[in-house]
Amino acid sequence: MNAQARRLSRRLLLSRSAAVVGASSAGLLLPEIVRAQGSRIKVGFMLPYTGTYAQLGVAIENGVRMAIAEKGGKLGGREIEWVKVDDESEPSKGVENANKLVQRDKVDVLIGTVHSGVQMGIHKVARDSGVLTIVPNAGVLPVTRALCAPNVFRTSFTNSQPTLALGKPMMERGLKKAVWISWKYAAGDDALEGFKESYTKAGGTIVKELGLPFPNVEFQALLTEIAALKPDAVACFFAGAGAAKFMKDYAAAGLKDKIPLWGSGFLTEGVLEAVGPAADGVMTTLHYADSLDTPRNKQFRTAYAKEFKMQPDVYAVQGYDSGQLLVQGLAAVGGDIGNKVALYKAMESAAIDSPRGKWTMSKAHNPIQDMYLRVVEKGDNKVIGVAAKALADSGAGCKLG
Ligand code: PHB
Repeated sequence: MNAQARRLSRRLLLSRSAAVVGASSAGLLLPEIVRAQGSRIKVGFMLPYTGTYAQLGVAIENGVRMAIAEKGGKLGGREIEWVKVDDESEPSKGVENANKLVQRDKVDVLIGTVHSGVQMGIHKVARDSGVLTIVPNAGVLPVTRALCAPNVFRTSFTNSQPTLALGKPMMERGLKKAVWISWKYAAGDDALEGFKESYTKAGGTIVKELGLPFPNVEFQALLTEIAALKPDAVACFFAGAGAAKFMKDYAAAGLKDKIPLWGSGFLTEGVLEAVGPAADGVMTTLHYADSLDTPRNKQFRTAYAKEFKMQPDVYAVQGYDSGQLLVQGLAAVGGDIGNKVALYKAMESAAIDSPRGKWTMSKAHNPIQDMYLRVVEKGDNKVIGVAAKALADSGAGCKLG
């Protein structure tokens, strides 16, 4: 019996009633041990499979599956049973949908989600139930700040991380007055927080903050306002199908060659083919770039394209790293997901060899990672340089670690 099996055996012994333990021998217990280790681990995806973020959900799921498949398709030696819920990026159904996975399906692990508002619903369920939860995208701040939790790990970013790297390169290019525009919900508000901090610190002035409700794409009136304001630059947060429409409308309104467009890098992720030349020259900061010239990234991109017949983006990378984190965590406890102390310790100290570059977990369970400055060139997010090295979110108010 190896060390993991011995630990499991001891736990089973302790959990059995005295009478059964008294009557049993190690030999009698063995089939039960084998069953416990051999039983399937249930992993639930709660992701958007419809709506403006649908393609983000698909990329994340692909990435998770790929990372686990590369390591033999099991977690800690256990087969996986997958279940899925479409969260529709609908915050009002967040708690209900998370409970479909946690209470109805009794998942061992919940992977979700993309939209910050929906994440707050998942987070409530995660904190109440204690179920292991991996956040593969949504960057809403409290999840790894004041409401951080031992069982919740984020493999993506906080919404203010990319924009904390945005202000300085804009000012270095003499863009002193900017208009901010985004959807009015947590992700846009948090992104603005990071932009405000970095841009004003570098000496810039935000002349106007514009917004529209998620997931509206009626940009015309706001673009007319931008044209009238004549700022040196526009900075924004949009993502998914809405980001594609925004860049097209920006160019169609004649602004592209007059007022440089900058953004939190999600703006140009997974949409460049759809947007075409209207995206050329758009400048962004993000923790990933297609063209990162490392063997790790190249190998990942080739394998992903071969498997899924599409190009990966930052969402695929985040899904991939979620899979890597689970593989590492469950390997450390030999598949015994009930061994929470050891599992969380392994996940906290994981070093993830990501296509984005190596990263580690902060005490609040959020990646400490480099931010790249990128420009769109011929349908590609080309790296210009590192805009911020090993950038950590403040984790303000988190009492873990
Ligand atoms: C979010 O809602 O937190 C969010 C959504 C899409 C992104 C980034 C953040 O690309």
